Amino acid sequence: MRIPMIAANWKMNTTVSEAKKLVTEIHQELSDIKNIDKVICPPFISLATVYELTKEGSIKLGAQNVYFEEKGAYTGEISPLMLTDFCKYVIIGHSERRQYFNETREIINKKIRTSLSFKLMPILCVGESLEENEAGNTEKIVAGQLKSALAGIDYPNGLILAYEPIWAIGTGKSATGEQANKTIGFLRRNINELYNETAAQNVRILYGGSVTDTNTTEFISQPEIDGALVGGASLKAKQFISIVKQAREIKNQTSS
Ligand code: PGA
Repeated sequence: MRIPMIAANWKMNTTVSEAKKLVTEIHQELSDIKNIDKVICPPFISLATVYELTKEGSIKLGAQNVYFEEKGAYTGEISPLMLTDFCKYVIIGHSERRQYFNETREIINKKIRTSLSFKLMPILCVGESLEENEAGNTEKIVAGQLKSALAGIDYPNGLILAYEPIWAIGTGKSATGEQANKTIGFLRRNINELYNETAAQNVRILYGGSVTDTNTTEFISQPEIDGALVGGASLKAKQFISIVKQAREIKNQTSS
């Protein structure tokens, strides 16, 4: 049984005091909720504060990015070693990083390797653009992204994937539950081909892209979808709390 997961990607939003306020509300409502993993990925500058406010409960933290060296003369970067004090997870390969910060497949592969070596669990994002989608190339694109990100990695124990069609991120235009389920099922089969059936059955694959409290059911009720990576809606405590509670309800029903 895969434990469902809802992860909040706050992106470049919230000052430290805003982060404090937001996480306090979320923590009050969600820290005792079981049978679902809740992950918050605040900006780096708020990690320590958010960690202090959540360490007594079941909410875990993730970083939104990481560098692939342990330490040294890399001005402005944050290493996996530094993150391990606060985080269990790290988002890698988000389309915004590929697009605005020129992260190549090679860089993403290095980040995955180093993170795994520090037992920091990557949430690896893959997804196609609108043009690629319309040309019918979704599977080819995500398979290529997956293969290159995992190149040379023996068995990515604990790896989490997020299928995020680029055209659905922050646009209010989500994929349908069925579309997302199909691509996520395809990704799972790819993990089987790259590794084995156990790895495929164990890997959690999230959907991301304009998930809100009104469309959570559509995605989470799909058998291949293990949870969601939530951007915009995770900045509103009530919405995020509702998404987590709905997801837990749905997955508990389907597993009992
Ligand atoms: P969104 O972002 O929910 O605002 O579309 C999702 C993401 O980029 O992870």
